[in-house]
Amino acid sequence: MQKTLIVYQSKYGSTEDITKIMSMILGPAKYCLTEDFKSEYRDFDFFVIGSPLYKGKLDSRVLDFIKENQKWLSQKPLALFCTCLNRKQGDLILKKLKNKLGDCVLSTKSLGGRLILKELDDNSNSAIKEFLKAVGMPVTDIDITNPEEVVDYSLKLKKLKEGLMPKMPPEELKQYIEDFLVAHNTCTLSTGFGTRVRSTPIEYTYKDGCMYILSEGGEKFANLMLNKNVSAAVYNDYTDMDQLAGMQITGEASIIDDYEEYSYLLDLKGLNINTIKSLPVNLNLIKVTIKKVESLYWKYRKQGYTTKQTLIF
Ligand SMILES: Cc1cc2nc3c(=O)[nH]c(=O)nc-3n(C[C@H](O)[C@H](O)[C@H](O)COP(=O)(O)O)c2cc1C
Repeated sequence: MQKTLIVYQSKYGSTEDITKIMSMILGPAKYCLTEDFKSEYRDFDFFVIGSPLYKGKLDSRVLDFIKENQKWLSQKPLALFCTCLNRKQGDLILKKLKNKLGDCVLSTKSLGGRLILKELDDNSNSAIKEFLKAVGMPVTDIDITNPEEVVDYSLKLKKLKEGLMPKMPPEELKQYIEDFLVAHNTCTLSTGFGTRVRSTPIEYTYKDGCMYILSEGGEKFANLMLNKNVSAAVYNDYTDMDQLAGMQITGEASIIDDYEEYSYLLDLKGLNINTIKSLPVNLNLIKVTIKKVESLYWKYRKQGYTTKQTLIF
């Protein structure tokens, strides 16, 4: 699997906080300060460099790191971010750096920073007063860090990184996925609405891009009535890292009360409609139309592909 390295500097902690969030979302990943970089880290597959903005410049240790390592870095996929108070200035500085580094830079982003005046050393204190005066901002604590934006950007980078992986042809991948889904019969169905979340272990039948689930009822329906977006996981028990097999499914759920579709599912399951009708309670039918499957499957390696493959249905 592709590994991400985030190299950063942070004087007062906000760039470090962002780095930690990014590294969890982009994992498998590692983060390190520029001075802790080791030459073996060059083996990572995707690089992110983060720096705060001070007096209109990126941290000099980050700039030195880029300068010293530019030769091999320019052969790697790279993203640059900065934390700052003046986002326009941040964007401009990153754009200039991207122009200098060339096509290896796949993405740049300035993110909101944080300023707690009582934490600043004397040098920073007078410098920041000058900066705030120059940009017409009040001399007070400022916190424009935005975890939601950091998460969104990290997800964007994750997608970018995954797009670089060698892809199995979709038809071949679909076959693997369908065989796996047919060979299993139990999933964990996750539904949610607002703060109410629920994961339900439940039996399913897979057919033609859909998972069909029969259920007497329960709290998952409270979520499904208000939010049709669902996720389902189907997986083998963990034995070791070399035998990983699991699918994370994203889909849309609907409740089927159309007689023909209901009977079709019962046929698939070898159930008789009259037997079901004679039950003392209703059996509800959930149909999950699959939109995306993110899979980790050791068998892909046999074909020379990475174990992680994504299929859009
Ligand atoms: C001395 C000083 C100078 C700064 N200069 C700038 C600047 O030129 N432009 C800007 O957008 N933000 C500037 N900032 C704000 C920082 O970029 C922001 O506080 C950032 O979140 C700090 O990152 P850190 O917590 O990782 O050290 C400055 C902050 C200090 C303390």
